[in-house]
Amino acid sequence: MPRIIQAIRGMNDILPDQIDLWEFFEQTVRDWMAGYGYRNIRMPILEQTDLFVRSIGAVTDIVEKEMYSFLDNLNGDSLTLRPEGTASCVRAVLEHNLLYTGPQRLYYSGPMFRHERPQKGRYRQFHQVGAEALGYAGPDIDAELIAMCAELWRKLGISDVRLEIGTLGSTESRALHRARLIRYLERHLGKLDEDARRRLHSNPLRILDSKNSEMREIIDGAPQLLDDLDEDSLAHFEELQRILRNQGLDFEINPRLVRGLDYYNRTVFEWITGKLGAQGTICAGGRYDGLVEQIGGKAASACGFAMGVERVLALMIECGNDIPRAVPDAYVIHQGEAADGLAWKTVRHLRDRGLNAILHCGGGNFKAQMKKADASGARFAVIIGDDEAQAGEISIKPLREAAEQVRVGLAEAAILLKRT
Ligand code: HAM
Repeated sequence: MPRIIQAIRGMNDILPDQIDLWEFFEQTVRDWMAGYGYRNIRMPILEQTDLFVRSIGAVTDIVEKEMYSFLDNLNGDSLTLRPEGTASCVRAVLEHNLLYTGPQRLYYSGPMFRHERPQKGRYRQFHQVGAEALGYAGPDIDAELIAMCAELWRKLGISDVRLEIGTLGSTESRALHRARLIRYLERHLGKLDEDARRRLHSNPLRILDSKNSEMREIIDGAPQLLDDLDEDSLAHFEELQRILRNQGLDFEINPRLVRGLDYYNRTVFEWITGKLGAQGTICAGGRYDGLVEQIGGKAASACGFAMGVERVLALMIECGNDIPRAVPDAYVIHQGEAADGLAWKTVRHLRDRGLNAILHCGGGNFKAQMKKADASGARFAVIIGDDEAQAGEISIKPLREAAEQVRVGLAEAAILLKRT
């Protein structure tokens, strides 16, 4: 026997038993986004590699280590499975000139790909729902994006999630801070690990994000970006905080919130839970005023976020909000030629009236068929034998409660099944 081929490590099947939760989430997201005027956009899963190098940044973990990139056999182009949605969304907006008609509130959802070490909550194919507000200078829209998330957590029954915010300032203040940080780190060169030394001049801010405990002291003593902040960025950050407070949204300021993508400036934020272990960031985002220009468009401000769907769903379950499995209303069992005809007619009749009806397929006697009806989870078995066929009636047997089996005409059946 040939060996069973398995899925790629870190890439998961989403099985029928999990689907009710996924579909509940997807429907909630659609309604929630529409409620805020965000419109759906769907981008291809494959893009030119250069798009991500230019936007996420060449010296980032994602671009250096985690992208699924390959050469297109047919024309030699370097292509990449998207590791995130922001770059693709901005590309699509520019390519189709969407900003021509004014600012855009857009959202997307779908699989993303990162070649990370798989563990609970961290996958190589995972799903994101992301929102991007393009053409808005903020900070009102920054606050609204954050408030939107808080509302979604409520709708999903999620608790135990906290908000961290920070600011990265303007390009100029970051350049100032960068130079100060490099000077500081150079003074402690001997205590930096190999990764940090390599990044010292290319991406010193990322060094502050290091998990290496031996560098903790150096990192804690490093100059803070908040001290180098330009006036406008400071005002932006203060106004954001004022709106959040006015809206009753709790937050903590994290001066070290760096994020793993280079396109951010000013506002950055993360939603973090303590309930999911090491992979506790369920949603993250921020402002990226330079990205549109970087990708080749006319300068436009923008802000957005993306959430990890697997993590949000895991948190829903942790919070006791699992969604019950949707069950069929009726499972129709039948035997004999005349009964078959009536069975087909019955399922059609029930479905036309909005009921879910499974027609038993595959033959077998009534006992075997009844077992299948029970296993299907259906609320009722509809039984059609010679007797019923002759009388033009069907028998209905409740499967989930101790109630009598009844025999009725088709017209009555749908009413009976709907009412109970
Ligand atoms: P990100 O922080 O790289 O940001 O990812 C956003 C969220 O995706 C994370 O907070 C996490 O919940 C989820 N996530 C990331 N990697 C994985 C993984 N390997 N397995 C499971 N979940 C994961 C972005 O992607 C930005 N595009 C967000 C954004 C939108 N910023 C502005 N607009």
